[in-house]
Amino acid sequence: MTGPLGPASLTTDVEPLPAQAEAVFGERLPQAVGYVDLLATAGVERGLIGPRERPRLWSRHVLNSAAVAPALPSTDGPLEVVDIGSGAGLPGIPLALARPDLQMTLLEPLARRVVFLDETVAALGLSIKVIRGRAEEIAEPRWDVAVARAVAPLERLVVLASRLVRPGGTLLAVKGRTVAAEVAAAASVIRRRSTRPAEVLTFGDDASGATVVRVLLDRPRPRGRVS
Ligand SMILES: C[S@@+](CC[C@H](N)C(=O)[O-])C[C@H]1O[C@@H](n2cnc3c(N)ncnc32)[C@H](O)[C@@H]1O
Repeated sequence: MTGPLGPASLTTDVEPLPAQAEAVFGERLPQAVGYVDLLATAGVERGLIGPRERPRLWSRHVLNSAAVAPALPSTDGPLEVVDIGSGAGLPGIPLALARPDLQMTLLEPLARRVVFLDETVAALGLSIKVIRGRAEEIAEPRWDVAVARAVAPLERLVVLASRLVRPGGTLLAVKGRTVAAEVAAAASVIRRRSTRPAEVLTFGDDASGATVVRVLLDRPRPRGRVS
């Protein structure tokens, strides 16, 4: 894809399109390809993605993000989802491409990243909302689900997500090898915000799958403080 963010001439070392991408993104595969192209060009040039990530943009970033989809709660109506600390759009953009029924909002405080997100959403023709700000600055809960990848320890994410999701909402945190330790460290805060223990779910294979911690936020949040 070429577009306002720059030519795709730097993408020679980008991982080839994996076979499973078509099943994951269906008719939105061209937009997923366009997104990878933007990450590999403007994303790298502007320092949002390290150049060493180019050979694994699909597996480690885009498919890893989309792998969160089966952890979403089922609902009759549209599901409103916020991606806390979206950075260059991960996991929010691949998730929205894999599940176009979601109403996705990307929340990101850093101006440079917000500019990239706004330009990317426009270039790909997506109806995704981008908000510049920190989770702590959102005054009222307004989403059903909060997702986050590589933003903060689970203990902190539970507190941040409690500000953003309505009572009975869900936090989905993409985690890596530290997942067991993070769940243990977050046990007490999870007990204060949830009637259920955290669930650790694994989707896909080692190369492109994801480990997701799901926390149901069904206890009322203490008002007036960020903890
Ligand atoms: C390491 S990056 C990860 C970006 C992306 N989620 C990913 O997986 O590539 C962490 C991002 O979280 C954002 N961030 C940090 N603290 C935040 C907060 N309190 N509220 C919202 N975003 C935050 C940062 O600006 C940064 O873009």
